[in-house]
Amino acid sequence: MCGIIGYTGKKEVSKILVKGLSRLEYRGYDSAGIAVLAKEKIRIRKKKGKLSVLRDDLKRVPIEGHVGIGHTRWATHGVPNDVNAHPHADGEHSVAVVHNGIIENYREIKENLKKKGYDFLSDTDSEVFAHLISDNYNGDLCEAVKTSIKEIKGSYAIAAMHKNEPDRIIGARMDSPLVVGVGEDETFLASDIPAILDYTKDVIYIENGDIVDLSGNVCSIYDSDGQKVERDMVKIKWDISQAEKGGYKHFMLKEIFEQPKVLHDIFKERIIGDSVAFEELVIDEGVLKGIKNIAIIACGTAYHAGLTGKYILEKHTRIPVWVDTSSEFRYRDPLVGENTLVVVVSQSGETADTLAALREAKSRGSKVLAICNVLGSSIAREADGVIYTHAGPEIAVASTKAYTAQLAILYLFAYYLAEVRGDSQEHDKNFLKELKKLPASAEKILRQYHTDENILEKYAGEFHEYYLARNNKSCFLYLARNVNYPNALEGALKLKEISYVSAEGYPAGEMKHGPIALIDENPWVVCIAVEADTYEKMLSNIQEIKARGGLVIAITTEGDTEIKGIDVNYNIRVPRVPEMFSPILVIVPLQLLAYFIAAEFGYDIDQPRNLAKSVTVE
Ligand code: AGP
Repeated sequence: MCGIIGYTGKKEVSKILVKGLSRLEYRGYDSAGIAVLAKEKIRIRKKKGKLSVLRDDLKRVPIEGHVGIGHTRWATHGVPNDVNAHPHADGEHSVAVVHNGIIENYREIKENLKKKGYDFLSDTDSEVFAHLISDNYNGDLCEAVKTSIKEIKGSYAIAAMHKNEPDRIIGARMDSPLVVGVGEDETFLASDIPAILDYTKDVIYIENGDIVDLSGNVCSIYDSDGQKVERDMVKIKWDISQAEKGGYKHFMLKEIFEQPKVLHDIFKERIIGDSVAFEELVIDEGVLKGIKNIAIIACGTAYHAGLTGKYILEKHTRIPVWVDTSSEFRYRDPLVGENTLVVVVSQSGETADTLAALREAKSRGSKVLAICNVLGSSIAREADGVIYTHAGPEIAVASTKAYTAQLAILYLFAYYLAEVRGDSQEHDKNFLKELKKLPASAEKILRQYHTDENILEKYAGEFHEYYLARNNKSCFLYLARNVNYPNALEGALKLKEISYVSAEGYPAGEMKHGPIALIDENPWVVCIAVEADTYEKMLSNIQEIKARGGLVIAITTEGDTEIKGIDVNYNIRVPRVPEMFSPILVIVPLQLLAYFIAAEFGYDIDQPRNLAKSVTVE
């Protein structure tokens, strides 16, 4: 994880670095630092805590210069403190480096360097980069980096500078993202585009193994064999305003409210008449016709989207689908081959386990389709085909709009696949029509929660009081059946991520096999009981919970009268849609409920403790 940035040009660098880091804080936020090169001196300032601590410090005592690097950290080796924060330098402050990734053989390198007389200050793996580059330096920083990375095992995106080379920054990447931004008389390096979007929209994605040499406004790139290469420059279409809060208190809230538009844009772009088109998908139709099964691989929220994808794909294509978390798939000798289409789902496109799973699947002969949000990400580039969700930048650590966008794409892909294979079902006729209604229905749900009579805020307030009155000893259980079961998992994940309240998701039919033992007046039980084939069974589950003194929040369909006969404690309604399409709507109030509960607790919603947006380490 961690975010890095570098700048060389004519502007005052500290401000550019700090602003860029503020857009990368989603990658880690336990400490931050910058290094500025001026008058043949490298000056480093780094602070434990959020970026604001560093920003305040720099306001008090600024560092001036026009070349610099910066870092926002998510600790892997060494606790968050000032010393372990990046940038790291060699003993003489000749070299400064920022690093995102993990150096697996750092102990060995450290021991060798110590024997040569290098003193280490931090507990990090990253510090070895600074000493190693210093050790390999013979008057040319680019050459020193080239030699150094040959000794490194693991993942890295780095930016380095040397005090004797006043306008130069060298970058390198292996399995951690890195982009170059090209402006007028200035160049940038960054882990992600939002960090540089204030200054340029011209971006170059750096390939694995590449080394980048930025000198003023000149950018040279070398591949892993040391050959000079040209990489395509891409024009970024979206605006920085899309990565800003736009009047909302938190990015998470803004992103929840963006969902109707995201869905609308996806359907508008992909549904052409009675067909679905994915212009970027390059997996041959012949291959899609021949597949015997589908494996969906992902982590966290994307995994939950994948679980829903199983229901959707199996129903519409009748192809068997199994779903795995990436970290399990990659290590369990998975049974995939030429007849399996592997679908990897990832918002960031950089999740280390999902990337490794993708490679594992490819090595076994499977074609891999990626469903990704971030353009040009590692997963998008390494897959055989990609479908972008185009949900725009998702900044809040808790994923919301990326999830509904992934669901939307999975519906469309199911339809597309059934069409390609010529096995569309009779009921498919209404499929696209129903999908196109979803953005307006999502909008309708959200409108109710933009008013002063926001019932979710009220429920959240009551839960908060209840929780405090019980000495912080309450929890949540989420129950659902069939296609909404993954939403039970996702609702629980949202709540625990941002409010630190313990929450479990279960298939409601499993309740009697264990979770029912939890029921007394303590857990709040969210029951997803929208119109469905299993509706009556959900009502029975609710009765069983009520009979044991449980407290129920029921999610039901508008116009449902039966639920009135059961004395549920809270009722949240969503518009009527066929069961198969309900997950996209049901998740919206669950996201909001989690949000409002976290807001009651006063937690840092966009940057919850211990988490990072992009998990680029195992
Ligand atoms: C979601 O709220 C989480 N922060 C997390 O589970 C996330 O979905 C997971 O890390 C996968 O990320 P990806 O979609 O970028 O691969």
